[in-house]
Amino acid sequence: MKQLKIANIPGDGIGKEVVPAAVKVLEAVSNIHGGLRFNFTDFPYSSEYYLKHGEMMPEDDIARLSEFDGIFLGAVGNVKLVPDHISLWGLLIKIRREFEQTINIRPAKVIKGVQSKLANPKDFDLIVVRENSEGEYSEVGGRIFRNEDEIAIQNNIFSRKGTERAMRFAFDLAKGRRKHVTSATKSNGIVHSMPFWDEVFKEISMDYPDIETDSQHIDALAAFFVSHPEKFDVIVASNLFGDILTDLGAAIMGSVGIAPAANINVNGKYPSMFEPVHGSAPDIIGKGIANPIGQIWTAKLMLDHFGEEEIGTALLDVIESVTNNGIMTPDVGGKHKTEEVTNEIIKRLKSRG
Ligand code: NAI
Ligand code: MG
Repeated sequence: MKQLKIANIPGDGIGKEVVPAAVKVLEAVSNIHGGLRFNFTDFPYSSEYYLKHGEMMPEDDIARLSEFDGIFLGAVGNVKLVPDHISLWGLLIKIRREFEQTINIRPAKVIKGVQSKLANPKDFDLIVVRENSEGEYSEVGGRIFRNEDEIAIQNNIFSRKGTERAMRFAFDLAKGRRKHVTSATKSNGIVHSMPFWDEVFKEISMDYPDIETDSQHIDALAAFFVSHPEKFDVIVASNLFGDILTDLGAAIMGSVGIAPAANINVNGKYPSMFEPVHGSAPDIIGKGIANPIGQIWTAKLMLDHFGEEEIGTALLDVIESVTNNGIMTPDVGGKHKTEEVTNEIIKRLKSRG
């Protein structure tokens, strides 16, 4: 029996609606597959928690969380209670950094029955590997002179280790897919970090002779996501470029509400964290219409991560059979509630066995 200890952090807003939905699905999965069991523990970290305790999560709880096999997170952010930079840095980014979750993976594909925002989406199926620990999101820099001479400096950090790690992850992933890696660059405009990025990409590609490669400037690449998303397999990108590309990936799928993501700890020292791309969706809180698919597909990424790819693939098939039957929430053109979509997924999982 494989027992997995999972820390649930529903967080804010619709995180509190979609995490319980996905947990129900995972419990159904483990009831069907006797050899797999999830032990969930809920943690209350959220913006409301911050109002009561003055911190997003207790300092010591990082040690508690490190005992888990994985972290299953909903969304963080409620600007009515706490400014975004405090809530995100105090929880999400804190966990990503403390647990060396240096890779962020975000798939995007055509989901049957869901209308893409593209007129002719073809059958795209891509995955962005985003460097998750450095790049443009560094804390190095500062501001001087609070007057008309004010200057803000934000330094980008590109280490050889971090860059190589992201690229190797992308190449290894491509081996089990369509064997193509695209590098997101901007070496025609950014004169230090991006030529370095290109060099490392070329070096690493030598170790993977069976994988085809190409390099695209991020601006052109963004346009290709709209005009020819079917041309991509795995894309490796720096922190900022990857962040922007994956929102675009979510949009061409049809809704940010279905987009999944995983923050991977590659060295195996700490748990990885699984969270959908979307935020807390303040405009739809409490209406019962949050799309649970982003969180449930994220659960599939968690299953894959723990070596349960077969179960993960079956779960995604079931999700698509439900959407293809028109059982969907309003963000993707349906009329159904979070609960109805979730229950239908569970029903079909059970009947499939
Ligand atoms: P958002 O993703 O929460 O919402 C954007 C739009 O998409 C809204 O119209 C929302 O209703 C819709 N939407 C999002 N998820 C949905 C779902 N599952 N089903 C149906 N519709 C869905 O992004 P926004 O509004 O920019 O941010 C709201 C808060 O969430 C902010 O505090 C922000 O900082 C935070 N945030 C947190 C993230 C995280 O925890 N990883 C990621 C993005 C934003
Ligand atoms: Mg983003």
